[in-house]
Amino acid sequence: MPIQTYAFDVYGTLIDTDGVLIFLRQITGDQAEQISATWRSKQLEYSFRRGLMQQYIPFPLVTAEALNYALAVHKVRLTESEHEILLDSYLSLPAFPDALAAIKALADGAQKLFAFSNGPKSTVSALLEQAQLLPYFDGVVSVEATQVFKPSPVVYQHFAEMTETSISTCALVSGNSFDVLGAKAAGMQGIWVQRDAQTVFDPWGVSPDRVIEDLGALIT
Ligand code: LAC
Repeated sequence: MPIQTYAFDVYGTLIDTDGVLIFLRQITGDQAEQISATWRSKQLEYSFRRGLMQQYIPFPLVTAEALNYALAVHKVRLTESEHEILLDSYLSLPAFPDALAAIKALADGAQKLFAFSNGPKSTVSALLEQAQLLPYFDGVVSVEATQVFKPSPVVYQHFAEMTETSISTCALVSGNSFDVLGAKAAGMQGIWVQRDAQTVFDPWGVSPDRVIEDLGALIT
């Protein structure tokens, strides 16, 4: 099925969440890697749980709760201003090095390009703007109107509706395997970005429609 519309996941696909490490290292030294890994995995777990419990809160608050968990479990105490710096760092995360050139080139192609995220539209738009990616997108679609998070099928259906594309001709591009599986379960095509050869795709008996090493591979 030819692709009409791309849905680019944001955190972990266009934008590198490891960008928090710069600030974390300054504040927490050697513990930074562990805290960052706990923070990111709890952020996703909390979004899954809130979806199941039907207890939606905006993604930045999910992120803040996950940070508090990571700090508590790694026994790190921060001042109020350090805490603020860390949360604010989420608003200025860098793009992956391959993202800008790829998105720029794809913007000239036949397919429509959208960013598609758990994050609120205003937050994601500001994040993509500071990473210089925003002008190349046809728009930003957030799950916020659905009050659930990825990988609920509701959010992928919402994407297809918002972009006025038949779901089978939408392709999700994501570095997160749970997101690719969620998109495929809802009837979208799923392209997995495997930047690191060590990353394992969840062995659920479903393969991505395509596996790419970086976003540049989409141009050809
Ligand atoms: C997002 C998270 C899942 O941007 O990475 O939606």
